[in-house]
Amino acid sequence: MKTVAVFAIKGGVGKTACAVNLAYASATQSARRTLLWDLDGQGAATFTLRLAPAGRSQRKLFAADAALDGMIQASDYARLDVLPADKSLRHLERAYAEDSARSLKKMLKSFDRDYDRVILDCPPGLTTLAEEVFRAADLIVVPLLPSPLSARAFEQLQAHLAKHHRKGPPLLPVWTMVDRRRALHKATVDAVPDRTAIPYAVAIEAMAVHQAPVAATTNGPAARAFGRLWGEVEVALR
Ligand SMILES: Nc1ncnc2c1ncn2[C@@H]1O[C@H](COP(=O)(O)OP(=O)(O)OP(=O)(O)O)[C@@H](O)[C@H]1O
Ligand SMILES: [Mg+2]
Repeated sequence: MKTVAVFAIKGGVGKTACAVNLAYASATQSARRTLLWDLDGQGAATFTLRLAPAGRSQRKLFAADAALDGMIQASDYARLDVLPADKSLRHLERAYAEDSARSLKKMLKSFDRDYDRVILDCPPGLTTLAEEVFRAADLIVVPLLPSPLSARAFEQLQAHLAKHHRKGPPLLPVWTMVDRRRALHKATVDAVPDRTAIPYAVAIEAMAVHQAPVAATTNGPAARAFGRLWGEVEVALR
C-alpha cells in the first residue's frame, strides 16, 4: 500500500479537487483498491463524493481496538472507498500531540491489507497534522497556483521538509487553475515546461454541483489532465 498526500501550505489552491480526482483515477485508470481519507474537517472531499460522516467518529480511530467498520464508506465507484471527515477531526491534532505512541503512520498500517493506494486530502497549513502527514506519506502532491505567492509557499515547504524531515517523502508540484489567457499564468507555467498543469475549468468547479469526479462526467481537458497527473504519481511511487 502507498500513501499519497495532497498538501499545500496555502488554502483554496485546489487540494481537494486534486485529491478527489486522483483517487478516482487510482480506482479506475489503475484499477487500484483506493481509500480517500478526508482529513479536512470542512469535509469538501466527502461532500464531493456524495457522502456524509458516519455515526462513528474518526476520533475512535485512536481507541486501542479501533474497528474501522462503519467508518469507511463505499463511494458510487468501484474500488473507491472514503473515510469521511467529521467533527472529531478538530481533536485529531491534539490527540497526536498528547500521545506520542499514536501516529498517522500507524493508523495507515491498518489499511495495508485492504487498499493499494490511500489518498489524503489535507487541510492547509504547517500544522501538527501536517507533520504527521510528512512522516506517513510516500509522496506529497502539492497544488500550486501560477503566482509568486504560491511559489514562495512552495519554497517554504521545501525548506521545512529539508530541515525537519530530511528522509521525508518527495514532493510532486502541480500547477492548478491555470488560465493560459492570463500573461502571468502563461509565463509562470511555460517557465517549468515538464510540470503538469491542471487547467482552470468549469467542469472542476461544477464538481460540487454534480458531486462527482470530473472524469466521471466528462472526458475534456480537465479530466485528461488529472489522468496524466495520476500517471505521474504512479511513476513517482515506483
Ligand atoms: N482547476 C480548477 N478550475 C476551476 N475551479 C477550480 C479548480 N480547482 C479548484 N477549483 C475550485 O476552487 C475552489 C477551491 O478548490 P479546492 O476546494 O479544491 O481547494 P483546497 O486547496 O482544497 O481548499 P481548502 O484549503 O479550503 O481545503 C473550489 O470552489 C473548487 O471548485
Ligand atoms: Mg480542501
